[in-house]
Amino acid sequence: MNADKTIGIFDSGMGGLSVLHRAMKDMPTADFIYYADEEHVPYGEKTKETVRGYMKDIFRFFEERNVSAVIVACNTATSTLSADFRASFPFHVIGMEPAVKLALDTYGKEKKVLVAATPITVKGEKLKKLIDKYDTGGNVDSVALPELVRFAEKGNFGSEEVYNYIEKALEGYDKKKYSSLVLGCTHFNYFKPLYKRIFGDIHLLDGNKGTVSRCISLTGQLHGEGKVEYFISGKTPSQANMEKIQKSLKRLEEVYDIN
Ligand code: DGL
Repeated sequence: MNADKTIGIFDSGMGGLSVLHRAMKDMPTADFIYYADEEHVPYGEKTKETVRGYMKDIFRFFEERNVSAVIVACNTATSTLSADFRASFPFHVIGMEPAVKLALDTYGKEKKVLVAATPITVKGEKLKKLIDKYDTGGNVDSVALPELVRFAEKGNFGSEEVYNYIEKALEGYDKKKYSSLVLGCTHFNYFKPLYKRIFGDIHLLDGNKGTVSRCISLTGQLHGEGKVEYFISGKTPSQANMEKIQKSLKRLEEVYDIN
């Protein structure tokens, strides 16, 4: 692996693999280091300060490896990022935010937009500002679905238990009102078939394509060996960790075209 051709991607766990999966398609010759902070997942139910502390350690890890850019493949961690934090590291930092603007521009005229994310993201200032900026007609609602992070971590992607959890969390929402569902947490990509089952004909949007495009615009196409190295909270993955990663990537390929 050639360090200056390497992109660091991190998430609290398996969610950011959906960004890596997209990045491997759109940047086929780049090298990646994927860092899953499994020791601290879930981030979405912790405080902003705690998450920022984890992120500092992870950024130092990437700094030591001399990467060109770091993709924060986690909406929750991005929602805690500040400009001075970004500026204190010598690489490009590409954050993720829920695709609210894209949803409003593309489908907002038809019906309402629902943003699903973690509690930190849903309650955070950044999402509020994003909605205030683009949603002039009160067309965006939000819902926190924290259990989906746990289900994704367990590889429980399509069971009735997950279906029932989502149904229950959406009890107060009139599902017919929504044109689109914004997946505002990278762990939520695993459940695309269930959203279709629950909402019927709804459009699903995530920020993965836009995030990878932004990375390409900052770093250009990198010509390394097209390899991925994985770390679990800074350590080499065990056999069980690698099996979990492979199972997750397989699922992401299966649901890739569901949008
Ligand atoms: N995957 C992360 C996100 O995009 C966070 C999930 C969590 O750890 O709570 O928000």
